[in-house]
Amino acid sequence: MNILAFNGSPRMKKGQTDIFLQHFMKGAKEAGAETETVYLAKQNIKYCSGCFNCWFVHPGKCIHNDDMPEIRTKIRKADIVVLASPIYIDGLTAQTKTMLDRLIAGGSPFIESRDGHSRHPSGGKELKKRKLLLLSTCGFGELDNFGPMIHHAKAIANNLATFEWMGAIVRPMGGAVGMIQEEEPEKANAIFEAFRQGGYDAVSKGTISEEVQKAASMPVMAIKEYADRANKMFTEMIKVKNNSKRKIQ
Ligand SMILES: Cc1cc2nc3c(=O)[nH]c(=O)nc-3n(C[C@H](O)[C@H](O)[C@H](O)COP(=O)(O)O)c2cc1C
Repeated sequence: MNILAFNGSPRMKKGQTDIFLQHFMKGAKEAGAETETVYLAKQNIKYCSGCFNCWFVHPGKCIHNDDMPEIRTKIRKADIVVLASPIYIDGLTAQTKTMLDRLIAGGSPFIESRDGHSRHPSGGKELKKRKLLLLSTCGFGELDNFGPMIHHAKAIANNLATFEWMGAIVRPMGGAVGMIQEEEPEKANAIFEAFRQGGYDAVSKGTISEEVQKAASMPVMAIKEYADRANKMFTEMIKVKNNSKRKIQ
């Protein structure tokens, strides 16, 4: 089984998303999967220009000459595609969405009904479907921050002919996990373990249980406590920045 993850954070390996994603991928590997992470910010992916040349002029071929053909080949081989994107203004990062828009080249213009909804069929002969899983983190602590993004990711899976929705594993207040790593290592480790288990279950069971999802997003501190601690830290960071600015000038 092939698991392909797209890390859509511009911070790539330095970000929070990658911490949770790599625990997930470790679990997937332990369950016997071949795993690969593609860091989208490193790829050369141009915006879809909406010209529809890929449908009407050269079917399946985009006008842009960039890394997308290779990415589409990787997706074709994958059994599970993980969209690993932090929340940016209540949604997927631009890097993630730019890649997804370009998948239109794999579709065809014709309109058919799938599960009672208008859809475009796959442009190729390929009938194989792969599962789409959302893995995400964000700055705020409320779980409902993920609502719009989960809704969107599920809609994407239903929209694209060769995908089906698997579910989501999310971590609110992602930065707080790093904060508690020294104070309460068992709590931080339980969260990492939930992501590892999520990866294991996605491969071995084809699903992530509610229990594992809950463990991944368990509260680590009260929203007010997090805000107070984070605000104190931000004040310090701004002070340090200002001091170094004065020195530079
Ligand atoms: C442009 C931008 C927009 C963001 N928007 C939100 C938001 O709407 N809600 C939220 O909870 N966090 C938001 N965040 C915080 C990120 O989700 C959070 O810092 C996350 O850990 C980033 O993941 P990364 O470290 O992998 O890049 C935003 C961050 C940036 C840079």
